[in-house]
Amino acid sequence: MKSKDIYILAIESSCDDTSAAILCNDRVLSNVVATQEIHKQYGGVVPELASRAHQQNIVPVVHQALAKANIDKKQLSAIAFTRGPGLLGSLLVGTSFAKSLAQGLDIPLIEVNHMQAHILAHFIDDEKQSKPEFPFLALTISGGHTQIVLVKDYFDMEVLGETLDDAVGEAFDKSAKILGLPYPGGPLVDKCARLGKADAFTFPKPKVEGLNFSFSGLKTSILYFIQKQTKADPKFIETHLNDICASIQYTILEILMDKIKLASEQTGITRLAIGGGVAANSGIRARLQKAQKEWGWQTYIPKFEFCTDNAAMIGIVGYHKFLANTFAKTNIAAKARYKY
Ligand code: KG4
Ligand code: ZN
Repeated sequence: MKSKDIYILAIESSCDDTSAAILCNDRVLSNVVATQEIHKQYGGVVPELASRAHQQNIVPVVHQALAKANIDKKQLSAIAFTRGPGLLGSLLVGTSFAKSLAQGLDIPLIEVNHMQAHILAHFIDDEKQSKPEFPFLALTISGGHTQIVLVKDYFDMEVLGETLDDAVGEAFDKSAKILGLPYPGGPLVDKCARLGKADAFTFPKPKVEGLNFSFSGLKTSILYFIQKQTKADPKFIETHLNDICASIQYTILEILMDKIKLASEQTGITRLAIGGGVAANSGIRARLQKAQKEWGWQTYIPKFEFCTDNAAMIGIVGYHKFLANTFAKTNIAAKARYKY
């Protein structure tokens, strides 16, 4: 251990994953995630149940993160936590825990914006992945968010566009629900789509100005289409599942790619970093590889465990804030809506 090494305990509890990580500088020593299975039976996240599960999980998850990293809490330099955006009851658990532990250990507290963390996850030390140079465009796509951000520096970011209604992950999950697939349906739609024809069915793309997104109209048109088809043929979904999934996925990816292209044209930037759970989608990965070859873009996708909600990404923001001497007051409050 070098004396100037910085050890950060990071805590993430904004939605339905309770996570704790230990970083030594920009290197992840442990990243423990307790995913809450309870929401599956309800077809979506139930906020009250999420808060209760965070309360049950937070102590064991933090203990596990320290044990896996082989770090004693007395070695910690600071505690970083997700202040927002997210579900207030969920955020309160992580925020209160981080505040109490930081006070108990008499170490600084660092507040982190969850959306910035998804972007700065690209700066976690990983010899297999190169880091994007500033400025770059970030596309954050998950069950809770859809944003295109112009990233000029670590803490100089501008949201160029975001969803006006559903997030892209929700579009996948809600379409899957219409098809009778379990929650979260995104990975299942992806799996079926690989076996189907993307041009089998056509769904309308929303007309939204600029770089904003909208996915709720697509969901409605899928619902009406399925209702009409199953009325005529009750086995329609069963017989055409792969083709339906391929067509839905194609439409969602077209919507995303159109906006990314526009953002690149408007800014002149061809470096694109993607993050969020939907970054796991095989179709978007293929599209980005194609863009890399055909348009000369440089694309960056972090390891999957750093794409979905995790505390390591909170830790990397904590590390950079520690270097910049940016600490939070001990009376800081969680913020469900937290813009940057
Ligand atoms: O980042 P994440 O784990 O949690 C948040 O929502 O913040 O993202 C989960 C979302 C879900 O909507 C899930 O269906 C979607 O990511 N997802 C996928 C795939 N894997 C996860 N969507 C499409 N294709 C996938 N392979
Ligand atoms: Zn997230």
